[in-house]
Amino acid sequence: GKNESWRLWILYLVMLTRNARIFITRFYHCVQTVFTRYIGVTPAMAESQTTDTGRESPKPEEGEEKRPQFGGRFLTNPEDVFQHNAWDNIEWDEEQEVTARKKTQEQLNSALSTEKQEEYEELADEYWNKFYQIHQNRFFKDRHWLFTEFPELGPDVKPNEDVKSVVDSPAFPGQGAKRRILEVGCGVGNTVFPILQTNNDPELMVYCCDFSSTAVQLVKEHPDYNPDTCHAFVCDVTDDKAEIPFPDQSLDIIILIFVLSAISPEKMQYVLNRLAQLLKPGGKILFRDYGRYDLAQLRFKKGHCLSENFYVRGDGTRVYFFTQEELRDMLTKAGLTEEQNHIDRRLQVNRGRQLKMYRVWIQCKYRK
Ligand SMILES: C[S@@+](CC[C@H](N)C(=O)[O-])C[C@H]1O[C@@H](n2cnc3c(N)ncnc32)[C@H](O)[C@@H]1O
Repeated sequence: GKNESWRLWILYLVMLTRNARIFITRFYHCVQTVFTRYIGVTPAMAESQTTDTGRESPKPEEGEEKRPQFGGRFLTNPEDVFQHNAWDNIEWDEEQEVTARKKTQEQLNSALSTEKQEEYEELADEYWNKFYQIHQNRFFKDRHWLFTEFPELGPDVKPNEDVKSVVDSPAFPGQGAKRRILEVGCGVGNTVFPILQTNNDPELMVYCCDFSSTAVQLVKEHPDYNPDTCHAFVCDVTDDKAEIPFPDQSLDIIILIFVLSAISPEKMQYVLNRLAQLLKPGGKILFRDYGRYDLAQLRFKKGHCLSENFYVRGDGTRVYFFTQEELRDMLTKAGLTEEQNHIDRRLQVNRGRQLKMYRVWIQCKYRK
């Protein structure tokens, strides 16, 4: 009756405003893209990087570069705390856990609306594009920890055999390679280029993808990018229609470094299932990401929490904080076997300002 049609009209109007908003934001981002490409960073964009959270930006490993290797320096006498820049395997006491739990509960109490959550999900790639337009490759890190933590990425590693379906598959880039590595969410190539340089092996193919076309473009413009040994492509790994330029069961290694945390928690299991299909039997996922109650989580101010342990930064990029159990659960559900699931609790110290910063990272290796 009349009531029904009113309800339909209202629903229609709600849908229209929501889509219009998304359309306008996308359009706005497009204009900004043109601006940054031809004119440089607009003041508005530069500002969006320094919002109320200030330092919040995807710099996952602040301070890590100063250290030779993980797990080597232990704090036995609390009075020594300001003697060094960092301490490994720090134990958290009950009180510290309770304070952290309380803090995250408070953040959750002021969680953003579902509408806002959907908007950040819908526009996730745009926010990352914007991030890379502003920072370009200034976030480039010298990751010398990469090969000590993941010797699987270095030379002298025997590749797994190709299965028949891969040998028989229609031509694909890297088909002739003996060993194939994929980095998901590669950004500007912080991991890809060290791997290519260290291995210098014509039989190795390194694939890398990111859903930010700006990031992929930067990888392709890098002087070390050579299509014979590296294939960068734009791909949203949460999209079940995404085209992957190589067949299932063709990869020796998949690398996930600070990338699963950028994906909505509801889509993580799908992503891991899909990635597991791409591995050869015996192939591995190598993972490093944020752990629960890391300093980066605890310092989020009100109005940044999207859902439990999932946040949006001032620049619109998102971040999740994992426990070891959550990762174990998802990775085994994807049909993989645990080789490593390690929590890295480090105390970083700013000696000048007498500041203590508790960092938490998780590192995993799971085999098919
Ligand atoms: C914190 S950055 C890490 C970049 C890189 N792995 C590194 O360690 O330097 C997260 C990256 O994941 C990418 N990303 C986020 N969600 C993605 C998705 N659904 N599909 C593909 N890439 C994604 C972002 O564009 C960004 O480059």
